[in-house]
Amino acid sequence: MFNNIFDSHAHYDSEAFNDDRKELVSALPERGVCGIINCASDMASALTSLEIADEFDFVYAACGVHPHEADKCKSGYLPVLKKLCMEEKCVAVGEIGLDYHYDFSPRDIQKKVFEQQIVLAKELDLPIIVHDREAHEDTMTLLKRYKPKGVVHCFSGSPEMAKEVVKLGMYIGLGGAVTFRNARKPREVAGIVPDEFLLIETDCPYMTPVPFRGQRCDSSFIPYTAEVIAEVRGTTAQSILDLTRKNANTLFGLEL
Ligand code: NI
Repeated sequence: MFNNIFDSHAHYDSEAFNDDRKELVSALPERGVCGIINCASDMASALTSLEIADEFDFVYAACGVHPHEADKCKSGYLPVLKKLCMEEKCVAVGEIGLDYHYDFSPRDIQKKVFEQQIVLAKELDLPIIVHDREAHEDTMTLLKRYKPKGVVHCFSGSPEMAKEVVKLGMYIGLGGAVTFRNARKPREVAGIVPDEFLLIETDCPYMTPVPFRGQRCDSSFIPYTAEVIAEVRGTTAQSILDLTRKNANTLFGLEL
């Protein structure tokens, strides 16, 4: 039985949890989970994330607009988002970033909305939770320009890029992807991130680790991811959980 599981990136507001959200989340501490950051993707899910955070002591929220939704942002969204980010249980601006794989929003709009939210996070002294899919170059340009606190979640870049992110003082979030059979690059990254910059996450209900790939994911699946990271780093899964718990508490200013 593992403990000290701090899931730094989850989406319990997803409709995948509509039938059993309360039972599932309230049972997670018995399964070793000590903390969860529930990440929003738009204004509606920011509100839901805050509601879930209000319901459970060990759940905190990140409020922000995901690149997929950037195009749908109303022009006056920033002051509304700012208010949500100032709520007591909001500890980060996220998830925000760039997604050039799906390109659901035009790239210039993605960049504008990402940049506006980095500026907001700096103003509020909050960390950001970054989504970067096939947009490494533009993501790094903005991170280098603003030097925000935060984490690049579900990190998919090269070990060289991971080193650059760490040099900026930002964290690397690793999830179920490291367990996938073809995950050579994420495992290489798992091997080189310094102890003090590693976070672990699910991105649930997505990214379920092997051997449960295809099932709905939740935070209790994290030990399967920790096992793979531990193997690469020559340590134990529990020590990866202990370490990532400490790091998440440091980044988000919590004591969970
Ligand atoms: Ni996510």
